[in-house]
Amino acid sequence: MHDGARPLILGIETSCDETAAAVVTGGTHVLSSIVAGQTDLHARYRGVVPEVASRAHLENILPVVREAMTQASCTYDDLDAIAVGHRPGLIGSLLVGVSAAKGLAWSLGKPVIGVDHVEAHLYAGLLDAAPVPFPAIGLVVSGGHSCIFTMEAGEPPRLIGRTIDDAVGEAFDKVAAMLGLEFPGGPAVERLARDGRPDAFDFPIGLVERDRLDFSFSGLKTAVLYAVRGVPQAPNRPAREAPPPLTAERCADIAASFQRAAIAAITRKLERAIELHEPRSLLVGGGVSANGRLREALSALASKHALDLRLPAMRYCVDNAAMIAGAAAERVRRGEQDGWELSAQPLSAVARTERVR
Ligand code: KG4
Ligand code: ZN
Repeated sequence: MHDGARPLILGIETSCDETAAAVVTGGTHVLSSIVAGQTDLHARYRGVVPEVASRAHLENILPVVREAMTQASCTYDDLDAIAVGHRPGLIGSLLVGVSAAKGLAWSLGKPVIGVDHVEAHLYAGLLDAAPVPFPAIGLVVSGGHSCIFTMEAGEPPRLIGRTIDDAVGEAFDKVAAMLGLEFPGGPAVERLARDGRPDAFDFPIGLVERDRLDFSFSGLKTAVLYAVRGVPQAPNRPAREAPPPLTAERCADIAASFQRAAIAAITRKLERAIELHEPRSLLVGGGVSANGRLREALSALASKHALDLRLPAMRYCVDNAAMIAGAAAERVRRGEQDGWELSAQPLSAVARTERVR
């Protein structure tokens, strides 16, 4: 019998290639968080293969849920609700988590709550931490999203900027592939960049219009491609001149210069958002928030503007279910729940709202 803080929520997350379950109490206190990754299954394809991912979720979901419940030392009867990341993501992957959550909730007679995965990433920095002062600016930097939000207590985040092409994590992954590094590319690029010079290449830094809060990473990605393969004579034609050989030193310089430009693109837009909205805190989430250089840059930005910065603990940067359970707590407290028609949806509700400038 659980006699601790309420609500006690089982979270389930299967939107991409991590099968995750977690038990969170009181909205922020994590009793267990289990993540079964599938990196090995996808590495040879250099990207997540949707069909392979959903099959692996099917095999993993029940053992992962059981393990989360065992580690949390609570029973299914103790739960107040079951929360599930139901959007955005790969539809076959999402369906596994949504079906498991609805099946469990139905059989236990408990409420089910659907959570937006992008919104949940913003919650990751609040886990195992003190309450945060609002209003806040939220930044999600992941493999699928690069978004800036304004946030008020108890309200859904409001989108004020997003990428117009690639997500920043996607750019890290593509640059890693160009440099022949392993998948997922973010950590590999970060490791290689430690040996390189960040000012070796003058790569372009996103969109230049000052008051536009949107990101663009495709120009940067193309500049890296040209540095690797040479500048083509015309689209899809070979380079006029062979590029310099891709030595270990050149690879490291490209990685370091790319990382510098990508981080500068993020911090520039974020700083403009801070100047425009004057928040009290800065919430950051998503896989790329594990990047050490980005964390340093965000810490500097937060000190400059006297903001309470919430960077997730490393284990909550990448996809996990604790952030899903945490993000559902407010709705459970208000006695809300979703109906059995709750469905898996490929797109985010918060990350596709009309842009506000
Ligand atoms: O949040 P996440 O686990 O999944 C999505 O919701 O997309 O983010 C995964 C992304 C991948 O693109 C991965 O390369 C990137 O986060 N990533 C990093 C680092 N660790 C993970 N990017 C840069 N530096 C890192 N250390
Ligand atoms: Zn994610």
